[in-house]
Amino acid sequence: MDFGMKNRLSHIIKPKTGKTVMLAVDHGYFQGPTTGLKDVRKTVTPLIPLADCLFITRGMLRTSVDPKSDVVLCLRVSGGPSILGELSNEDITTSMEEAIRLNASGVGMSIYVGASNEDRTISNLGRLVNEAERYGMPVLAVTAVGKEMARDARYLGLACRIAAEIGAHFVKTYYCEEFHKVVEGCPVPIVMAGGKKIPEKNALQMTANAIKEGASGVDMGRNIFQSDNPVGMIKAIKAIVHKGASVEEAFEIYSKK
Ligand code: R5P
Repeated sequence: MDFGMKNRLSHIIKPKTGKTVMLAVDHGYFQGPTTGLKDVRKTVTPLIPLADCLFITRGMLRTSVDPKSDVVLCLRVSGGPSILGELSNEDITTSMEEAIRLNASGVGMSIYVGASNEDRTISNLGRLVNEAERYGMPVLAVTAVGKEMARDARYLGLACRIAAEIGAHFVKTYYCEEFHKVVEGCPVPIVMAGGKKIPEKNALQMTANAIKEGASGVDMGRNIFQSDNPVGMIKAIKAIVHKGASVEEAFEIYSKK
């Protein structure tokens, strides 16, 4: 890795702890104005100072984030289908030039292992990495899960390993039982996606488990911005990820209004 690549990656994964708390607010790129993200500006403004990095599309970045804010960006650069179509039918939608112009510290796209377009999404990842390497831009591969695919260590381990083999610099995947096996098979950092909203204590427990089992942090959305206390929730997640707080300590942080 050259200087630019390492330096950008260190904006996202903080060298002090080797971990990151990314806030994912990219859901609208296929879900439209989903719960908690109807007004992206309103949702992200109080959370930006607390997030290590924002995972967002260029459209929401331009319209809903103050350019003067002290924010590290990872840009969602894939898309195509909506929730009404075949989700795996994705392509790259945002150029590397645009990512650089928007001052991104990373770019992210989904691969659909086990879905109908797995081969195309994986070769899209290869093309994105080829281009990103020219500019020193880290690539986050998101292991999107097809409706029929089990969220288990065997499947997620397969998807994460493929992402790393193709050249992703870090990978986002879901938590599962025996998550450590997913981490062990993947030589690049893994960040955990939160998935559907669950009770806050369960989300904190899942985060603590993932960190214990080797995750390099989270790229979490709904369990933060759909919480009744999003600011408390991101502070609680940060305490676990960066400070090794217990679930009980973190829950207390979340509970403070
Ligand atoms: C989904 O495809 C998006 O990339 C989200 O960024 C990802 O799922 C993380 O968000 P959540 O924690 O809500 O699952």
